[in-house]
Amino acid sequence: NQAETLLIETRGRVALITLNRPGALNALNRQAMQELAEATRHFDRDPNIGCIVITGSEKAFAAGADIKEMQHQSFMDVYLADWFSGWEELTRTRKPMIAAVSGYALGGGCELAMMCDIIYASETAKFGQPEIKLGVIPGMGGTQRLTLAIGKSKAMEMFLTGRVMDAAEAERSGLVAKVFPVDRLLEEALKTAETIAAMSMPATMMMKEAVNRSFEVCLAEGIRFERRAFHSIFATQDKAEGMSAFVEKRTPNFSNS
Ligand code: HXC
Repeated sequence: NQAETLLIETRGRVALITLNRPGALNALNRQAMQELAEATRHFDRDPNIGCIVITGSEKAFAAGADIKEMQHQSFMDVYLADWFSGWEELTRTRKPMIAAVSGYALGGGCELAMMCDIIYASETAKFGQPEIKLGVIPGMGGTQRLTLAIGKSKAMEMFLTGRVMDAAEAERSGLVAKVFPVDRLLEEALKTAETIAAMSMPATMMMKEAVNRSFEVCLAEGIRFERRAFHSIFATQDKAEGMSAFVEKRTPNFSNS
């Protein structure tokens, strides 16, 4: 683990990445972006890892992109360097990713959580896109992903006022899958990650790819894609094993092949 902004560990078939810039409430600077992309790329290719959990501290998942790093950048600086395009690499991760969010998930922090496939929140979680208060707009996918997650009216109200949404509202709105007490959040996220990591890897990877199509293409194209992925999964040994195990009333023994 060479990363300076992250703590990285593995627990069986689950990788746990903890954002670790406590002095800045885990604000996401360029180093954190690069280290996160590198860590997820590594685990994406590791056959022994089936699911990735990303978390922060109890006080902050991440309080946003690093405002101090952005403060003196001009239009041409960020345009030429194509700021934040590096986050696209994280979203190319094909293994499932769970965000375990406690405390602040603001701006880029909320956007990072939404780049994950499942969001679990603690009762203290606070989600928001406060960029409007800084005179800017989100730059890591927030206008698109939050709108898709909670609908236009609610998203627009969040963006235009910069207000914060608590965990209960986030769950009600569909942004978050489940809410837990603070001290159970990580263990519940890891438990779900273990469950996912024990499934057939070709099936979890294709499931994620197919679900994500719903955000990227029109319905007809997405359904065509899903059908082809469904057909191709019949070539795996795990499909044979999973269905045989059901018929034989036993637990499947997946080989990830
Ligand atoms: C850099 C940050 C930061 C951030 C907090 N810090 N958020 N540094 N970037 N996004 C730093 C503070 O400067 C402070 O450093 C330390 O972390 C602790 O923060 P405090 O403000 O003292 O903590 P607290 O009073 O508890 O308030 C917590 C908070 C507040 C409400 C979350 O920190 C806050 O409002 N942060 C900014 C949230 C935000 O606007 N995020 C969106 C960013 S824009 P020192 O050195 O003083 O101790 C974005 C997308 C931008 O994400 C896209 C642009 C194109």
